[in-house]
Amino acid sequence: MTTKTLTPEHLLNWHSIGPDGTAGPDGMDGAAGPDGKKAWNWCLRRALAYGGHRIPSNTTSASDKKIALVFFNDSLRTRASMELAAFQLGAYPLVVTPGSGTWGFAWNDEPMVGGEAEHIREAIGVLSRYSDALGVRLFASGTDLEMDRNESRFSAIMKASSVPVINLESAFWHPCQALADAAVITSHMAGETQERKFVLTWAPHPKALPTAVPNSTLLMAVRLGMHVTVARPDGFDLDETVMHAATAEAVKSGGSVSVTNDQAGACESADVVYAKSWGGLGRYENPEEEADERRSHASWCVDESLMSHTNDAVFMHCLPVRRGVVVTDSVLDGPGSLHLDQAEYRVHAQKAILEWTWGLAESEPEAADVHKTSEMNG
Ligand code: CP
Repeated sequence: MTTKTLTPEHLLNWHSIGPDGTAGPDGMDGAAGPDGKKAWNWCLRRALAYGGHRIPSNTTSASDKKIALVFFNDSLRTRASMELAAFQLGAYPLVVTPGSGTWGFAWNDEPMVGGEAEHIREAIGVLSRYSDALGVRLFASGTDLEMDRNESRFSAIMKASSVPVINLESAFWHPCQALADAAVITSHMAGETQERKFVLTWAPHPKALPTAVPNSTLLMAVRLGMHVTVARPDGFDLDETVMHAATAEAVKSGGSVSVTNDQAGACESADVVYAKSWGGLGRYENPEEEADERRSHASWCVDESLMSHTNDAVFMHCLPVRRGVVVTDSVLDGPGSLHLDQAEYRVHAQKAILEWTWGLAESEPEAADVHKTSEMNG
């Protein structure tokens, strides 16, 4: 094992599946630096090795480490898988759920005359002193697109932290999910992801959900060299900065990106159908305005008829998923659904991320572990 010097580098852009793999899309550069792509490749291989049981699940390599997991929003998979990942490396996971047994946190620079007793700067500063990394879940505001695009609140946390911050889903990105999904796809296709057809389809939902998962999913699939089609009703485009980043990534990976409002057409000969709901960015400030429109697209629910257009595609969803709204029971319960594999791989992927973060990474995972991933993405 080689040990890297730990620096207080922050991992917001760890999801860094941006234009050249070294930084995120416009406005989000810098955090991961030149290690972004290297980290991605190493962690993907490592996750595959854990998932394939080619290395032991449990180690004590991080027995002197603590990670504070700060959940500003609800979670099942991310919380459970991060706790388990830390446990399996011998580290201690310290879970904090702001708003549930903590002081209320203030965020702005105004005198704190309101109900909040503690500023986010002290809260994060203290947790930094108690731990060797932070994992933070902090969703989009859902009403201020510029703030969400710039990751303003997540950036405030990174600034206040003296230890690495792992993104457990921020306003625009869900890198841990993307890494886990990349490993699932790579494993399922035995490394042969290049030029396969991937459909990211919008799906109905009663709420205008954030775009963190579809943003990260799009960039992940393009990075694997796949031909990606975003199928969505008119008015539900992803952010132009993300589309720009995906297009630039495709030039490097040999993949491609296209957009359509023809869901069935997009699924012709598809190898992967990845469903996700998201709210339209055009009415970001007033998401309730589009509720009727979302309801009018109920036929976008992924069913067997849609899947019959595909090349015997697998179905993917990050979960939680609304049965009978996003996807039918028969598709989700069918043999081609990888949703539970995706959840399992969250543990494998996040163990890899923690090892990388803490400088516990072996220099190279065994080549045999990765099928053809060693040739992927440089
Ligand atoms: N996919 C995912 O992040 O699940 P949770 O929201 O339950 O953590």
